[in-house]
Amino acid sequence: MKFTRAKGAFDIYPEDSWKSSLHWQYVESEYRKVAFTYGYNEIRTPIFEKTDLFVRCVGEASDIVSKEMYTFEDKGSRSLTLRPEGTAPVLRAYIENQLQQNKKAQKLFYMGPYFRYDRPQAGRYRQFHQFGAEAIGINDPMQDVEIIDLLCEFYRRLGLKDLTVLINSIGDFSTREKYSAALREFLRSSYHQLSEDSQKRFEKNPMRILDSKDKQDQLLLEHAPSISQFLDEQSKEKFNFITNQLNRLGITYKIDPRLVRGLDYYNEMVFEITSDVLGAQSTIGAGGRYDPLLKMLGGPDLPAVGFATGIERLLITLEGQKLLPMQKDHITCYFIPMNEHAKTISFDICKKLRGKNIRCEVNLQSKKMQKAMQQANGLDAQFVVIIGEEEIAGQEVTVKDMHNGEQQRLSLDRFLNEYTKKMEN
Ligand code: HAM
Repeated sequence: MKFTRAKGAFDIYPEDSWKSSLHWQYVESEYRKVAFTYGYNEIRTPIFEKTDLFVRCVGEASDIVSKEMYTFEDKGSRSLTLRPEGTAPVLRAYIENQLQQNKKAQKLFYMGPYFRYDRPQAGRYRQFHQFGAEAIGINDPMQDVEIIDLLCEFYRRLGLKDLTVLINSIGDFSTREKYSAALREFLRSSYHQLSEDSQKRFEKNPMRILDSKDKQDQLLLEHAPSISQFLDEQSKEKFNFITNQLNRLGITYKIDPRLVRGLDYYNEMVFEITSDVLGAQSTIGAGGRYDPLLKMLGGPDLPAVGFATGIERLLITLEGQKLLPMQKDHITCYFIPMNEHAKTISFDICKKLRGKNIRCEVNLQSKKMQKAMQQANGLDAQFVVIIGEEEIAGQEVTVKDMHNGEQQRLSLDRFLNEYTKKMEN
């Protein structure tokens, strides 16, 4: 019997595409660096949580909760869910660990796998990964600006081009109540022409209909009222402040009055960043403010704002724009022992070099010199060390510099003294 991976999942290993583990390490390390410079600290939460957390946070009418969660009962009959997103677990952890006692304002970043049961396609997976950041406890709209700037700066450092920042304000709770009622009234006479999904959303959460990809729904929405008409002065002021600051920072954006986001927890500023490279699944990163959520979960009444960016979509865009750095399975020093005794000696020298963080390897595969040299080339080895009977007898090694082809025999002590320094550089 042959086992294959589950649908919608994939393996990350050293290979030639965006799925290469070397590329993953690269973006992970860049994300850590940029998050660090903006003053964020890492948080890691469990892969599974109690199901209710997501139902409360993300919203019962959302696609995520209504159809996409990996929910199961454990042996103690508890309902658990593989996390479909990162904001709810971070808030749960903030409250449970009373992080506000250390420092009310917490700026946290995270990375890891998330799970949504959806139809897999390019850029959409059932196990996918996100980089995220949440700034908790800071009310100032400058914090919204920092969140958008952090994500844009991350993309900028990776060299990404041609991204579109879409931004909107969905106001406070009462704005959304008024707007939902107006939208419902507007669509009421066309209810039967709406898609099945949109009909379901009509009563519970008509704003979600704006998210619909259905062509007929989109047509019906063409002259729908816009949420911006319902914003109060305070929300308008905050939103103007944010867009002015983005202008000042040179971050270009488009105001998209239809942008409402698919998760229920947002208020005020919401944003999405899209990339042309991605096709249908064009959103590479997204986020917004979600002030009432912490209190709703039984925590302190503190505001928050954050984002998440899909790592797969980020890497696919980088690959599409030819921005993934060349990667070689580079070995600094490759040992070719000519007999069993030489193998042991090679291992001992290797251990010394590895102790100095030099990446080295002993050839254990090819008995023939030519094959062994081919292996060394394949690994892009900088130096090859050959140890045969003569070298053993004289306590020597033969070293070949693979970059200039020079070869010399020298004492083991001299090799360790001179070459370790070269290899450390
Ligand atoms: P989201 O829009 O659901 O927001 O997901 C954020 C990003 O995760 C998307 O823009 C996309 O790049 C990626 N993503 C989502 N689903 C998939 C999938 N099935 N396959 C591949 N990539 C996917 C959130 O998750 C919010 N927690 C963001 C946030 C943080 N808002 C405030 N703080």
